[in-house]
Amino acid sequence: MSDEVQSEAAAVPIEDAAVFKGYREPCVSVMRRFGVTVWCDVIAETTRGRFEGLILPRSETSDELHLVLKLESGYNVGIRHDTIESLRKTGYREASYKIPEKAFPVDAGKPRVRLFGTGGTIASRLDYRTGAVIPAFSPGELYGSVPELADICNLETEKLFGIFSENMGPPQYLILAEKIGEAIREGYDGVVIGHGTDTMHYTSAALSFMVQGSPVPIVMVGSQRSSDRPSSDAAQNLINATWAAAHGDIAEVIVCMFGPTSDRYNLLHRGTRVRKMHSSYRSTFRTLGDIPLAMVERDEITPLKDDYARRREDREVTVRAKFDDRVGFIYYYPGMKADVIESLIDAGYRGIVIAGTGLGHVNRLAYPALEKARKAGVQVYMTLQTLWGFVQMHVYETGREILEEGVIPLANMLPETAYVKLGWALACHPDDPAKVRELMTTPIAGDMTEREPHDGYLVFQGGVPEMKAFLGKVWS
Ligand code: DGL
Repeated sequence: MSDEVQSEAAAVPIEDAAVFKGYREPCVSVMRRFGVTVWCDVIAETTRGRFEGLILPRSETSDELHLVLKLESGYNVGIRHDTIESLRKTGYREASYKIPEKAFPVDAGKPRVRLFGTGGTIASRLDYRTGAVIPAFSPGELYGSVPELADICNLETEKLFGIFSENMGPPQYLILAEKIGEAIREGYDGVVIGHGTDTMHYTSAALSFMVQGSPVPIVMVGSQRSSDRPSSDAAQNLINATWAAAHGDIAEVIVCMFGPTSDRYNLLHRGTRVRKMHSSYRSTFRTLGDIPLAMVERDEITPLKDDYARRREDREVTVRAKFDDRVGFIYYYPGMKADVIESLIDAGYRGIVIAGTGLGHVNRLAYPALEKARKAGVQVYMTLQTLWGFVQMHVYETGREILEEGVIPLANMLPETAYVKLGWALACHPDDPAKVRELMTTPIAGDMTEREPHDGYLVFQGGVPEMKAFLGKVWS
């Protein structure tokens, strides 16, 4: 597809199905009737009012009943075909699907940062002329969209994958870990990884175990809202993540995403203690069981903790890129029967992480399966659905019974972190269960902490009196 704006839609034959890009009947008939195609600017008179915007392509998996307009505001609106009274064409702006990668300006005085692209919304490019989001762009195009990056560092990019993060998994973790190790040994001052947000906390945990003792920051970043939306967090996240990688002092695997709901600053979260907590807020990532490591606001990083690994000049790093995928992860529910766990044992799984209730419980129905696991040499670890707090299996009789079946408590390790750590630990010591257990129960990347800080568990639950009193003090 051309990179140029085409000024005349008439050049495109209206009979050609390609110009209706993804639309089916009855929308195609409506478009034919008014002589418009995808990429036409139109004024739509409808029974529900007047809309002005650009006709966007329709995904073939979306319904056939709506025409989608990109409005001036940046938002998309779907107009049902049978509400359309007329469509008047006022222009034509075709989006380009591919722009050439722009060479990043090199400034010898600036740090060198390596950006690995894996996919997700952060890797969607906005075509400014049309407002359309074009997926699967290469990271080299970032400079074209976020020129501020050139003020921060010399950025070199490499697209490793172009996938949504639900498709990230152990094979990708291994490649990423090796690539990060190479970048560190090659002398980069920091690494940034663009990633879909949904499973970013699994990948950040995996990299925290697989890449140890890094001398430079390894910063994961994503975006909750695509860059065609006025409220997109893509540019700010990328700028702050790149700053943290180039100039920051925290040489660990960290996640850099929106802090508050406003766009004031980003938070840097430790890779093993972070979790996506909201399906749509931009401030979706939260540190659990602790507080975030730092705030980052453009060119200023304010540490909130000081127990982090500092940047070093050497190039020493230990990469242990291994994963045994015979690890099961079970979210216990009341009524769960033994066969849920037994099926994993029968299928040859070597380890199981359970997210139990309360202090770390499952029901009695599961006990025979726990016994079967113990006898089969399948290690079973306990984490918490509450996410905050510590596993304490000595408090209640049920907990003690579960312990007797050999279930191993994991303090305040997050369930997702425990799953990833177990896959890694089993691969590190394939023939030595005692070593696996030792690795699992020893904190190696902040995955377990001694205590929760008093100001960690802050959940704003609306206008409750304590919160009002607290805010009154802060804001008075
Ligand atoms: N499914 C999402 C993912 O890749 C896309 C949205 C996003 O990048 O957050 O995680």
